[in-house]
Amino acid sequence: LQALAARQRPDFRVGAALALGPLTADPEYARAALSEFGSVTPENAMKPQHLSPGPGVYTFEEADALVDIARRHGMDVHGHTLTFGEALPRWMQDLPTTTEADRRASATALLDYVTTVVTHFRGRLASWDVVNEPFGVDQGTQLRHNVWYRVFGPGYPAVVSRAVHAADPDVAQYVNENGADVPGPRQDALLALVTETNAQGGHIDGVGLQAHVYDLSTDRIDGDDLTRSIDRFAGAGLRVRISENDVTRSEGPDAQAEQYAEVFAACFRHPNCVSYTTWGVDDRYNWWVAPDGRLRQGHDLLFEQGRPTLAHRALRSVLE
Ligand code: XIL
Repeated sequence: LQALAARQRPDFRVGAALALGPLTADPEYARAALSEFGSVTPENAMKPQHLSPGPGVYTFEEADALVDIARRHGMDVHGHTLTFGEALPRWMQDLPTTTEADRRASATALLDYVTTVVTHFRGRLASWDVVNEPFGVDQGTQLRHNVWYRVFGPGYPAVVSRAVHAADPDVAQYVNENGADVPGPRQDALLALVTETNAQGGHIDGVGLQAHVYDLSTDRIDGDDLTRSIDRFAGAGLRVRISENDVTRSEGPDAQAEQYAEVFAACFRHPNCVSYTTWGVDDRYNWWVAPDGRLRQGHDLLFEQGRPTLAHRALRSVLE
């Protein structure tokens, strides 16, 4: 897919979220992951929980291994994610925020984390999700009161963005959100957040629209709506990444493939949409696989047991 895309748009990236486990253990997964895609988003390996078990303590091995593999195969790496309300180590969740002195000390610890991580990967990543899922679950438009909010207040994205820029002025910065793929209050809130962040000295270059489609009857993304959405962000001087697309097969493989192609085509044909990433490679490692091994959400991805699905063929046909 990356090779086909590059014939028309050399700078466009078709990517996937990858995990080191199957990449090193499953040759079929590795073959698909490394031959189809031009960009890697570490699925979990760069979340705070995975990078820092204690204040000032870092475990970069897994993320570094993933970055090395990606770079050896000529793939870009998109860092995911610096701030988030989930996937936080215990010490971050427990940072005290009651008094002014608490908040000052906690701010130092969080900014040390950001600076250390961004500096560690400097020169090896194309971009970072500086903020992931800022808003409440479902269609909320209010900032979640995660630890970053509790320590820095509602201006936390600008504080973090400035710290990222100071540590690595060349890495592109994104705010990534779900449920903001089509026009509506959630998208308005995302656009307003990024605009305000940059007015406060932030350096956000674009937004990630996750485009998870769990239920085709409620989450279906209309291609024209997506084009209009990219237009809106472009009008504000922002780039767009489709950052985590996956589509349920619950209505059958044709409906799934059609939705995949519609999202991909809207992105690929818009000059401000710079990359398209699917959230995983093969249904064998679908993130909806429950601990007991059952698939909770149906088949969502471009490969199934190492073989390309109809959805994969649909993406190809957009490029041919
Ligand atoms: C998911 C991973 O895919 C799972 O392996 C993990 O157990 C939970 O997180 N939005 C995001 C991603 O921004 O970080 C989430 O990743 C999927 C939803």
